[in-house]
Amino acid sequence: MKILTAKSTEEFRLLAAKEFINQVQTKPNSVIGLSTGKTTTDIHKILADLYKAAPFNTSDLCVFNLDEITNVPRSYEGSCYYMIKNQVCIPLNIEDKNFIMPLTESNNFEIECQNFRQSVEDRGGVDLQLLGIGTNGHIGFNQPDKFFPKGYWVSSMDSNLEKRVRRELNLPDSHSMGGLTLGIDNIMQSRKIILLANGKEKAEIIKKALFGPITPEVPASVLQLHPNCEVILDPDASSEL
Ligand code: F6R
Repeated sequence: MKILTAKSTEEFRLLAAKEFINQVQTKPNSVIGLSTGKTTTDIHKILADLYKAAPFNTSDLCVFNLDEITNVPRSYEGSCYYMIKNQVCIPLNIEDKNFIMPLTESNNFEIECQNFRQSVEDRGGVDLQLLGIGTNGHIGFNQPDKFFPKGYWVSSMDSNLEKRVRRELNLPDSHSMGGLTLGIDNIMQSRKIILLANGKEKAEIIKKALFGPITPEVPASVLQLHPNCEVILDPDASSEL
């Protein structure tokens, strides 16, 4: 693993955004997997600014988010579809046909998982996967467990996120939701992975994920086994290394 600590959080965001741009410039028809969350929202802002200042060709670029909340409308501002569409696709002129996402509303999420996998495979698989990390080591919606989840699947929701979504959409407890996500094996099949973390609250888990035992109790620790994984951190996130 190549570990890079930026001099500041601003530089961290810039380095991450530039990785995206380098990938598109090296291979214009790249397939790039994205992640939502606080970490990447700020990176996407810089990416949009860089694109505005110096547009590059995105007509053949294909993007997706590696996970999605199930049983919420796509128009919900907290859906991954909504976030990536507004943070990345619209600002970078990425056409709808090149934005792959599972449906958020369906009566058969097994089929949604298969269709999502098929769409990514039809494009030739993932060239670059950008990942955030949860404070418990989750990547995508793959939470700590006794095994590394395999295949595109629907995990149970992180309880804090679930509470927030219920509150924001006024959904009763009887309304089931989940996290449709690439499994760990699918993430590991990406040709390149970049793990991104900033802030003091990520320092402890970054140490565990990068230097601790490889265990499904810390899903991100599996990235130690990837042959082409880079880690970009800000000074706070790398403070325990
Ligand atoms: C969301 C995703 C999650 C986040 C992780 C970190 O699409 O893949 O695994 O990357 O929860 O989120 P933040 O950046 O909000 O700490």
